[in-house]
Amino acid sequence: MKPILPIVLKTPRLLLRPPVEEDAATLECYLSDRRIAETTAAIPHPYPRGGALDWVAMSDDRWAEGTAATFVVTLRENGKILGVISLLGKSPRDFQAGYWIAVPFWGNGYATEALHRLVRYAFNHLGLPCLGARHFAHNPASGRVMLKAGLHFDTVIPGGSSRDGVFYDSVQYRITAEDWRMCVAI
Ligand SMILES: CC(C)(COP(=O)(O)OP(=O)(O)OC[C@H]1O[C@@H](n2cnc3c(N)ncnc32)[C@H](O)[C@@H]1OP(=O)(O)O)[C@@H](O)C(=O)NCCC(=O)NCCS
Repeated sequence: MKPILPIVLKTPRLLLRPPVEEDAATLECYLSDRRIAETTAAIPHPYPRGGALDWVAMSDDRWAEGTAATFVVTLRENGKILGVISLLGKSPRDFQAGYWIAVPFWGNGYATEALHRLVRYAFNHLGLPCLGARHFAHNPASGRVMLKAGLHFDTVIPGGSSRDGVFYDSVQYRITAEDWRMCVAI
């Protein structure tokens, strides 16, 4: 795949920027909270020491490979780190969004605002034909975020995602570039 050029995205309250090594300590602190890990498929718990630094390096590689665009979600007014949001995929048709917001900042609409901006970036800037996002069925808050950011419910996949070797039903959301353009035009 073609490399994706790192970019900074803005919303009224947020700045989404590629991760840098200096973010690692804060990210690791937030990621150590079990409540972040337990509703995701890939974040380990306990979070390994040095894991966030490795993750920053991996994010750099993925931008260069064109297989992910990863952003640290920060507050525009003071640069405070709130969480992470990313687009991951191996071909333009299968990009999926993933995100987490640190526990102290839940319930402020930050995930929704960040995902809304990421969707615009995916279609307007990257030119993707469609975009998906998936959450464990027992994580309805994430489904709300997907809906509020403009994605549509697609299907429930029985046992579709696993964590620590246990399979859970997962809920798939999707939006096509065409649908999104129609929504924006209304
Ligand atoms: C899911 C997560 C990203 C939400 O972040 P956030 O910034 O609090 O999200 P927002 O404030 O934008 O929106 C949350 C919505 O979920 C709703 N919500 C919260 N708990 C809920 C629950 N148990 N059931 C249903 N809806 C719930 C909120 O009321 C809000 O919707 P509303 O605005 O209609 O009231 C955050 O909780 C998180 O990082 N969780 C751990 C990691 C994770 O699950 N990531 C997603 C993996 S798919």
